[in-house]
Formats: sequence, structure tokens, C-alpha cells
Amino acid sequence: MFILAIAIQKGGSGKTTTAQALGVGLAKLGRRMLLVDADPQASLTEARGVTDAAGRSLAEVLGGAQPGHLSMGEILRPLGERLSLVPSDIALAVTEMGLVSRMGRENVLKRALATVEPDLDVTISDCPPSLELLTVAALTAARGQSVLDDAPDNKQAQSYWNLARVVDQWLPNAQA
Ligand SMILES: Nc1ncnc2c1ncn2[C@@H]1O[C@H](COP(=O)(O)OP(=O)(O)OP(=O)(O)O)[C@@H](O)[C@H]1O
Ligand SMILES: [Mg+2]
Repeated sequence: MFILAIAIQKGGSGKTTTAQALGVGLAKLGRRMLLVDADPQASLTEARGVTDAAGRSLAEVLGGAQPGHLSMGEILRPLGERLSLVPSDIALAVTEMGLVSRMGRENVLKRALATVEPDLDVTISDCPPSLELLTVAALTAARGQSVLDDAPDNKQAQSYWNLARVVDQWLPNAQA
């Protein structure tokens, strides 16, 4: 399975739009796609019309200080023939705070995705506009493969540099 993370610290820069467009487009081209909404804002979840994710979202899979009590398979929503969504909910913000004290926190999403890997070709995670633990977990799952738009202005260039530093800091510590 090919895993991507759409990540940058700058808000409103097209992360969710890019994740959605890539997911829908690649599914149309025949790939078995999974979109992971790793943002507590749940913009991708809302955009795909899922309104009842509370209690059955990525938050319940990742857990927080303790492991979650649901599996990826239990929360995954089919959206089309080859397109599924792991929905988000505001509870994911609490997850992120709990992860601070969890051993192996950067690997939580990678481990959860491994359980659905055989059924998928590509997974795309939509990250929040921050470089905190949810983004670190998405980047770790993607082994640092992220999608950035081109022609950055000065603020975006600084965001890219910050992102590169996070990848450099965390990926050597991630389990292969
Ligand atoms: N290529 C584009 N051209 C013009 N507008 C765009 C483009 N991509 C996204 N937008 C618009 O920019 C706004 C922000 O996009 P989006 O929600 O994808 O950003 P985001 O980076 O996910 O935001 P956040 O950081 O809050 O998660 C939306 O109104 C979206 O419709
Ligand atoms: Mg977004």
C-alpha cells in the first residue's frame, strides 16, 4: 500500500481539497483508496457527507494515553466502489493531547493502517494545520511522503522548512 500525508502548518492552504481530489480521482482511475481524516476539524469528513462520526471515528481507534477500543475496520465508511473514509470528530483533539504521554505515539496510525492494508492500494491522510502529534503520526505512517503545492510564498516556504524539520526529527525514531 502506498501511503501519503497531506501536511503543512499553514491553515487554509488546500490540504483537505487536495486529499479529497486525489482520493476521488485515483478511485475513478481504478485504485482502491482510503481517505483518512486526521484533522479534529473534520473538514474532510463533512465534505464527504458523514455527519454521525462521533463515537466511531479515528479518535476511538488511536485512543490517547491508552490504546483505542475500536479497529480501523469497525469505523471505516465506504463512500463509493473503491473509496472509503476513516472519519474524524472533534474528539480527535483530546486524542492528540493524550498521545503526549503514550509510548510509541508516532506509530499509532501506522499500526492501525496495517490492519486494513490488504484491501487498499493508496491511503491519503489529511492533516490538521499544525506540526503536532497527529501530523507526526500521519507522516510516520507515510514514511515522510507528503504532498506539497508548488510556488510557495514566503510564509509557505517557512512552513515547508518547519515541516522538513519535523520529518527530520521524528522519522529516524519511527519503527520501520
Ligand atoms: N486550488 C485551489 N484554488 C482555489 N481555491 C482553493 C484551492 N484549493 C483549495 N481552495 C479553497 O481554499 C479554501 C481552503 O481549502 P482547504 O480547506 O482545502 O484548506 P486546508 O489546508 O485543508 O485548511 P485547514 O488548514 O483549515 O485544514 C477552501 O475554501 C477551498 O475551497
Ligand atoms: Mg483541512
